[in-house]
Amino acid sequence: VSRPKLQAPRGTQDVLPEHAADRLALEAAARGILEGAGYARIETPAFEATELFARGVGASTDIVQKEMYTFEDAGGRSLTLRPEGTAPVCRAYLEHGMHKAPQPVKLWYLSSFFRYERAQAGRYRQFWQVGAEAIGSDDPAVDAETITLLHALLTELGVRDVALRLGSLGRPATRATYRELLVGHLRAHEDLLSDDVRERIDLNPLRAFDADHAGTRQVMASAPLLVDHLAPEDAEHFAEVRARLDVAGIDHEVDPTLVRGLDYYTRTVFEFTSGVLGAQSAVGGGGRYDGLIEQLGGPPTPGIGWAAGVERILLGAEPRPQPRALCDLYVAGTTTAAFALATEARRAGLGVQLELAGRSEKGRLKAAARAGALWTALVHDDTGAIELRDMESGEQEPVESASAVVAQVIRGRHIA
Ligand code: HAM
Repeated sequence: VSRPKLQAPRGTQDVLPEHAADRLALEAAARGILEGAGYARIETPAFEATELFARGVGASTDIVQKEMYTFEDAGGRSLTLRPEGTAPVCRAYLEHGMHKAPQPVKLWYLSSFFRYERAQAGRYRQFWQVGAEAIGSDDPAVDAETITLLHALLTELGVRDVALRLGSLGRPATRATYRELLVGHLRAHEDLLSDDVRERIDLNPLRAFDADHAGTRQVMASAPLLVDHLAPEDAEHFAEVRARLDVAGIDHEVDPTLVRGLDYYTRTVFEFTSGVLGAQSAVGGGGRYDGLIEQLGGPPTPGIGWAAGVERILLGAEPRPQPRALCDLYVAGTTTAAFALATEARRAGLGVQLELAGRSEKGRLKAAARAGALWTALVHDDTGAIELRDMESGEQEPVESASAVVAQVIRGRHIA
């Protein structure tokens, strides 16, 4: 009987050992930059009540309408694999009373997320994001700072051909007035629009700016723009954000049509793209969500943040040289004495690999070289005699005891 081959589900991928170094470097860079700026790590559950995303991300978004992995558990609860991190972090902020801590509360995460999307290069059904959220202040300095931190991260990781687009959506009242204006414009040119856009004129007219459809694009070319209709406080907030990006030397382009795929945004929105990523060029994005916490049942609380796709960062970065494995000592022996030597060396803090495949004495040396060992301890099967070989020079000497091997390797490490 032949059975179908088992494979990772469509849109998912294994993170293999050869990818580990790049991911570790990304995590180290994110930790350095974000924790240096006072952000603390948070990890929320991989699944949440479906209601959180329906209310937080917004019922009219693609994410909620067609991309969520939603299931009922054995207890009859509707749960959803998290499609994004902002709503969960805000839920945690509320649940743990973080409004009592000094504001803004600054949190970062590196986690995997799930969206039922059409899989292609740079777009997956399970993907990783590094993200940062600053909750509890509407100061434009928070907007500019958080954008600056993402810029620093992309720069440190060597993401190529990066550009920043920035916009402001104003606050809900402004947006409601503007929305009427836009709906009026779309209605006036309804016959030119794609079916998709026409069906959603009332639900989400802003998405029309996102369309590829030629007729829709023609209509949008003359559409009214929100940036031209901002309330004075919002226009001033936006100008303050931009002034700070200018002093930080961060080039940006104001894009009045910047649309993000989530409903919670207010005021500042932004997106970093990389020119080397092809169709999925958005490497990271975010914005302000001053109404979200209230939407989730909390007191009015401003917030802003971003998330960047880990796979896209790695695709967009210069390839890095693979670092060498760290093996101080290869114990080329199979006896219990060899095992004891390896254990003693590890307890002394050394990186130690042990002969595990019963190779011949010649084969063991080859394996030690492959492992990149600095030293090899040849433990003879019959006599128990130990010889220590300096793998770089090829010099080999008899050594009295396991302790002497450990001492010699530690000394060698200090000289190196
Ligand atoms: P987002 O724009 O949906 O925002 O996702 C942020 C980034 O995650 C994207 O720029 C992209 O790099 C990556 N990404 C998204 N979907 C996929 C996918 N299917 N495959 C691979 N990478 C993907 C958010 O998720 C918001 N929570 C960001 C935010 C935080 N806004 C405020 N705070």
